[in-house]
Amino acid sequence: MNILSFESSCDETAVAIVRDGREVLASTVISQIDIHKVYGGVVPEIASRCHIEKISQLTKECIRQSGLKEEELDAVAVTAAPGLIGALLVGLNFAKGYAYARNLPLIPVHHIRAHVAANYIAHPDLKPPFLAMIVSGGHSHIVLVKNYTDYEILGRTKDDAAGEAFDKGARVLGLPYPGGVHMDRMAKEGNPKAVKFPRVHFKDDPYDFSFSGVKTAIVNYVHNARQKGEELNFADIAASYSDAVTGILAENFLRCARDHGQKTLVIAGGVSANSMLREKLLAGKAKDQVLYMPPLNLCGDNGAMVGAQGYYEFQAGHTAGLDLNALSAYSIENQLC
Ligand code: KG4
Ligand code: ZN
Repeated sequence: MNILSFESSCDETAVAIVRDGREVLASTVISQIDIHKVYGGVVPEIASRCHIEKISQLTKECIRQSGLKEEELDAVAVTAAPGLIGALLVGLNFAKGYAYARNLPLIPVHHIRAHVAANYIAHPDLKPPFLAMIVSGGHSHIVLVKNYTDYEILGRTKDDAAGEAFDKGARVLGLPYPGGVHMDRMAKEGNPKAVKFPRVHFKDDPYDFSFSGVKTAIVNYVHNARQKGEELNFADIAASYSDAVTGILAENFLRCARDHGQKTLVIAGGVSANSMLREKLLAGKAKDQVLYMPPLNLCGDNGAMVGAQGYYEFQAGHTAGLDLNALSAYSIENQLC
């Protein structure tokens, strides 16, 4: 089954064609990072407009790259939630139009489910059940994936997402947006024990996260040092900050896995590209636990992950009519149709 899939929930316009949920026939993406960079973050109206400008041409290019004829496409999958509402609507309406014109089934896909599914592409042997940690610019979740379309949230952030924490910290250090990858690089040159940043744990919600404290701490640390005229070692700050953020993530995830007797662990989302996080999980997991990580090109937003999850949604009978709407917020636990 060949699924044409669309992702436009934030600042990447992405179109892919995926066969049977696992094989990527073509994957095309246009990033808007250079456009939003000057504002220090994503401007929703500009994101929507850029999606509109690119999606039609990108779809043609994706189909061309796949080598398929349009008659060989069997269904259309699209990210319907969560995300920037205007941005989501561009992909959704384009997908609806395509599905209607070619009389194909329309499959709505949850963005976080799709991030998890990026691992199905990279790891042919991976099957639920497993425990997943999804860490991106907008989400930090620990989720029990009971089946391809059945999820239970065991941990979540109480405030900011891990990616937001990285981006804010990077901004304080004068790094370009989005800062996660730059901070990752800079952290490799520094001493993670140089600065003590706070790590919040909740006794009653041991798998939940909070990053607002560590975000404030880096702002205050840099501000105070500047006030005193002290010289700042940016690499040491980046390493110590990354150590705090990834320490919280790794600790909660591994604790959750231990407590729930989970042997198969999966990470996903933009922040799952972080090298310190990967090292900590590999070093901290038990010998009988297997850790699956997406390759770096499948960590961030892409169309292929939507096609992968779309296949399993279709198998479960989750297709929508043309009255399907996009939702800016929606739990991974709930079905979209
Ligand atoms: O999954 P994603 O592409 O988009 C969302 O769904 O939010 O995640 C983007 C986030 C950004 O905050 C970005 O800074 C962060 O992932 N990120 C990283 C790294 N690469 C991307 N954070 C830490 N280390 C990285 N290597
Ligand atoms: Zn994402």
